[in-house]
Amino acid sequence: MTQSYVMIVDDNPTNLKLLEDMLLQQGHEVRSFPLGRLALAAATQHPPDLILLDITMPEMSGFEVCERLKADKKLGEIPVIFLSALNETQDKVRAFVSGGVDYITKPFEFGEVEARVETHLQLRRAHQVERDLLERQLSQARRLELIGQLAAGVIHEINTPVQFIGDNGKFLEDSFRDLFTVLQCSEKIASSKNDEELSARLAELGPVLKNVDIDYLCEEIPQAIGQLLEGVDTIARIVGSMKEISHPGQEKETMAEIRRIIENAVLVSRSEWKYCAEVTTDFEPDLTVSCLAGELTQVIVNLTVNAAHAISDVVKGTGAKGTITISTRRNGSFAEIRIEDTGTGIPEATRQHVFDPFFTTKDVGKGTGQGLALAHSVIVQKHGGKVAFETEMGVGTTFVIQVPLESSESLDVLSPGPESLRISPAALHASL
Ligand SMILES: Nc1ncnc2c1ncn2[C@@H]1O[C@H](COP(=O)(O)OP(=O)(O)OP(=O)(O)O)[C@@H](O)[C@H]1O
Ligand SMILES: [Mg+2]
Repeated sequence: MTQSYVMIVDDNPTNLKLLEDMLLQQGHEVRSFPLGRLALAAATQHPPDLILLDITMPEMSGFEVCERLKADKKLGEIPVIFLSALNETQDKVRAFVSGGVDYITKPFEFGEVEARVETHLQLRRAHQVERDLLERQLSQARRLELIGQLAAGVIHEINTPVQFIGDNGKFLEDSFRDLFTVLQCSEKIASSKNDEELSARLAELGPVLKNVDIDYLCEEIPQAIGQLLEGVDTIARIVGSMKEISHPGQEKETMAEIRRIIENAVLVSRSEWKYCAEVTTDFEPDLTVSCLAGELTQVIVNLTVNAAHAISDVVKGTGAKGTITISTRRNGSFAEIRIEDTGTGIPEATRQHVFDPFFTTKDVGKGTGQGLALAHSVIVQKHGGKVAFETEMGVGTTFVIQVPLESSESLDVLSPGPESLRISPAALHASL
């Protein structure tokens, strides 16, 4: 049986002890609280898998505790089983209305409590598996959509180096044809058997050399080879970056240099920003984190594209360009990435919604409202980091991402997570 963490809230110490012993024997991790207030605080720090909740308690009734839990985004899904001596139908109804999943009447039978606890834990596990699957499918769909969105631009970006690889290749082909003629003449001269043959072949070389500008070729050929290799390198980098983004569901964190992730993201999103903005970067040297590199690249692409759209709304039709500044630095135990734009800014009324899934102010085809929801899920849920923004209308917006320098996978799952895991995006915004 998988170990689950069950919280018991009851003001009666005898009940607490009995239930605690029973659940401990079942192999669960158990914590008991005599007051709703204490239980709520502890649940926020370390959410349990299930709560057994008494109704009649001093300070705060079980109903109120349950309502508060249900109102909290992070705690709302924890199943609550009420345990009460109240046996009126209206109490049971109120228990379900306040969000309880089950009701056990005191005095309770061990077998019954055990069976109900097990059933609800199993249901919760099944629900979590289903939700994880859905989340993975959604994230995969979003990944494919992003690749589709970038594809046209990426093809264009690849087309330019392909063209100059082709041009330089053609130039090298012509140059070498001329050089081969010279070489063949020289070879014949070298193998002349007598003076007569030598002077005849030297006479042949004269017109050949007239048609071939050796100095010009000596200067141009190395440059053409250099440009050709540069083109191949550009294509290789674009393909590598796209590969990183499209790599499906890379589950394991790897050590990655943040600089490389940002350079990849800037490269693949170039066609989205190059007409309206200059991108400048300022990297703290050697900033490496343990992360899901593909997903982090996706987040930076989303934020860069958002910045480009906001700038485009400002400079549209003026021919002017705005600026996107991406910088990194070490900030305490976090690696911090700031993406600053000189765009429109985010209006007061929309600030609290920008991280909501499917919230968009863009036209159909330009945005689906998933970019920031994905960024939030990747940074906060998957990396135990933080994402927030500062914005001023008419000045611009800065998105700030913080990723823990220490791997989130190495954190003890049952220990209280980093503060950010429990802060809503809106609260984070307010905190900046
Ligand atoms: N840098 C920014 N400047 C101004 N507004 C922004 C900025 N970033 C996001 N927004 C606002 O937040 C909304 C939600 O952004 P989000 O990235 O989630 O979705 P989207 O860009 O509209 O669509 P998608 O990213 O799915 O293509 C945007 O529609 C926009 O109104
Ligand atoms: Mg977006």
